[in-house]
Amino acid sequence: MKSLMMQGTQILATGSAVPDFSLSNEQISQIVETSNEWILTRTGIKKRRILTGTHQSIIDLAVVAALKALNKIAMDASEIDLIILATSSPNDLFGSASQIQAKIKANNAVAFDLTAACSGFVLGMITASQFLQNGSYKTVLVIGADTLSKWVNWSDRSTCILFGDGAGAMILQSCSKLDNQILGFQLNTDGNYCNHLSLLYEEEINPHPILNLYQGSFKYISMNGKEVYKFAVSQVPLSILKCLNSLNIDVNDIDWLLLHQANDRILTAVADKLSIDTNKIIMNLNKYGNTSAASIPLALDEALEQKKISNNDLIVISGFGAGLTWGTAIIKWKY
Ligand code: COA
Repeated sequence: MKSLMMQGTQILATGSAVPDFSLSNEQISQIVETSNEWILTRTGIKKRRILTGTHQSIIDLAVVAALKALNKIAMDASEIDLIILATSSPNDLFGSASQIQAKIKANNAVAFDLTAACSGFVLGMITASQFLQNGSYKTVLVIGADTLSKWVNWSDRSTCILFGDGAGAMILQSCSKLDNQILGFQLNTDGNYCNHLSLLYEEEINPHPILNLYQGSFKYISMNGKEVYKFAVSQVPLSILKCLNSLNIDVNDIDWLLLHQANDRILTAVADKLSIDTNKIIMNLNKYGNTSAASIPLALDEALEQKKISNNDLIVISGFGAGLTWGTAIIKWKY
């Protein structure tokens, strides 16, 4: 997609947060019939962080991630104009972003939620860049946060092994076109396959006794793992190639491949299809599992902490998941 860019987008800082409690594959094998060996060989996941107890929520994780990013650049939260919370597990269906706005005291910011499951952070970042590039706002905080441990069926071994909780934040600011860091993007949705991965609202069997009204609730994540796998390894490389082609960037010029952290086999298959060396893959899913909208900013923040990424490195970022929705953004990193 071509954008009429009037200004550029700069990435000022990142931050992340995960719950304290770590749940190993061995511990999961005491809950459902599985083994460390099965989970590790099929997914690459060794453990994941889970939000236990009643005192912490997704908001706490998101707030910690946001404050870490703000502290890194000594920015006062009052400078933020817009907060986008990418999440599919809010603690309020009317929106959770406003709670973050209040907690970090971003009193000048408008705040809203964006729901796009595991692609949420990429969509949030691109949405933010549009507000920045057209001059509507100067500073945007994008947070990807999910607590899917609350939404998996802990007796379904095909899904409960995959997911973990976490949050990642990014502060973006408008800048001159010359300093632009988000070089381009490519986004897609195919709702025909929404049933492959969903968390559906389910109505009760009996209606209200007076009104013919069926109420219900959201139940558990349901997934066709094989179909999701096939979708990811076929569509993500295409999205990346389309995006690179639109920018006239050669795949060999890519320094880092930062994909949604779903499964190590998906990540290496995508790299193989693009002939990208596997040592260019940023991967931390062994420690955190699939943290949905949090996975990309969490992995990016960790890679930056580890000083893996150098000035002017080109990073391909791709998200994919429920919807089905998937997309790519190409970033030039600048310190
Ligand atoms: N432990 C042990 N056995 C398990 C298991 C588990 N946790 N989960 C499933 N199995 C069993 C199945 O029951 C099946 O047994 P059967 O052959 O006796 O019927 C067997 O293992 C194979 O199951 P299958 O679902 O075909 O495994 P798979 O090789 O497709 O691997 C996934 C399952 C989920 C790891 C894989 O499909 C996958 O990674 N898909 C992508 C999922 C994803 O990333 N989703 C999020 C995207 S955002």
